[in-house]
Amino acid sequence: MHQHQQSPLPPSYTPNATATTALPKDHSKTTLYIILATSFFSLLFILSLPSTSSSSQSLITTGRDPVLFPNRPISRTEIPSGPTSPSIAYLISGSAGDSARILRLLFASYHPRNHYLLHLDLSAPQTERDRLAVTVQSVPIFRAAQNVDVIGKSDYAYPRGSSTISSTLHGASILLRLSSNWDWFISLNAGDYPLVTQDDLLHILSYLPKDLNFVNHTSYIGWKESKRLKPIIVDTGLYLLEKHEIFYATQKRELPNAFRLFSGSSFAILTRSFLEFCILGTDNLPRTLLMYFANMPYSFTNYFPTVLCNSDQFKSTVINNNLQYVAFNKSLSTKPHLVSSEEFDAMIQSAAAFATQFQFDDPVLDRIDQEILKRNPGKVVPGGWCLDEPGNGTCSVWGDADILRPGPGAKRLEKCIVELLSDDRYRSHQCLDE
Ligand SMILES: *[C@@H]1O[C@H](CO)[C@@H](O)[C@H](O)[C@H]1NC(C)=O
Ligand SMILES: *[C@@H]1O[C@H](CO)[C@@H](O)[C@H](O)[C@H]1NC(C)=O
Ligand SMILES: *[C@@H]1O[C@H](CO)[C@@H](O)[C@H](O)[C@H]1NC(C)=O
Repeated sequence: MHQHQQSPLPPSYTPNATATTALPKDHSKTTLYIILATSFFSLLFILSLPSTSSSSQSLITTGRDPVLFPNRPISRTEIPSGPTSPSIAYLISGSAGDSARILRLLFASYHPRNHYLLHLDLSAPQTERDRLAVTVQSVPIFRAAQNVDVIGKSDYAYPRGSSTISSTLHGASILLRLSSNWDWFISLNAGDYPLVTQDDLLHILSYLPKDLNFVNHTSYIGWKESKRLKPIIVDTGLYLLEKHEIFYATQKRELPNAFRLFSGSSFAILTRSFLEFCILGTDNLPRTLLMYFANMPYSFTNYFPTVLCNSDQFKSTVINNNLQYVAFNKSLSTKPHLVSSEEFDAMIQSAAAFATQFQFDDPVLDRIDQEILKRNPGKVVPGGWCLDEPGNGTCSVWGDADILRPGPGAKRLEKCIVELLSDDRYRSHQCLDE
């Protein structure tokens, strides 16, 4: 037996042992290093994670507020009063100058049960990232629930390239490490906005099996073949420190036949088990596809649908609808435009949970805040955990985070989900060859 000092493998690694035992430990270590390389301010937040490492334990001084998270009796044998509330992990991403939009989106989609990771990509200066972290730390409810973190060592995320896949998986892997109890992962962009309160969303999700992935997908290729699927690109965000754009190679490549290619949209609601499969799994499909998609334009819209639909384990868990409203031009159905006020009613009637794309501080966002979320400017969206006087709307007094107060948004969402799941309709739209 030779044990090479420079071996890239950890000493505990033996090729014959099941990799699952070595993987999580090694992975968590890597993640910790990434986290430790973050800026000072981000460190403060990220180190509050429930960690097995002793180096971070010493920095934790306070826990989560017991008013929000009271100790519950362990016995679950009593008749439950209803389904247990799930929890969502959000990655909220933006670019230089997007801090204000990220904060507004955080307030509008906030709930103490969830976890939030904010990512200002590498085109934003470090000072903006630090300011964002300081602002987050100044909000009492975020401190009390300890559920908002800022990525200190960020990535480029070019929507036209593949760096977005890498940065999204980075965020998801940190969230897996930060919190062991979330059920779904949602990646939001600064231009997105919720159309229901988190109480509405969590309430509806609590009635669903926790293995459903909401992902738009199609194997129909059409115009995409020559414009999106055959070209070869190089994403400079993966290896250059300065902001550049991606470039195209002159050659094109054949469509794959080792797996079926699916395209979709960049927004998706993904389960924890699926992300563990992508990030920690021993099946090589997610990694093989990661390398394949590294050189494809707009590959982020194809990555998750293709992994899901080619995996025997997950292809029956996909719902072909991502619960997102996108404003499409009637004529040019592939080019989304900015949501305008005229569309407000259509957007709400669509019963989607989120919508895109909104301009910075567009008046339509104020209307969503007032009429749908009942949210005051600069405050978090009220929920069952807020105990202020009715109409006060500051959420400065809080109680049990498990108490949800769903409103009309839950009714809309319920109708939409019932339709999606009815008569096995979803099976007939699932990972089909077209
Ligand atoms: C996702 O699918 C739904 C249902 O088919 C559709 O209404 C919506 O426009 C799609 N979104 C995108 C971005 O393609
Ligand atoms: C899309 O619609 C918006 C507003 O409805 C309009 O301003 C824009 O010119 C349209 N774009 C295209 C390409 O048709
Ligand atoms: C809301 O309630 C909090 C705490 O009770 C109080 O400090 C604040 O002044 C109230 N705000 C309004 C607008 O009534």
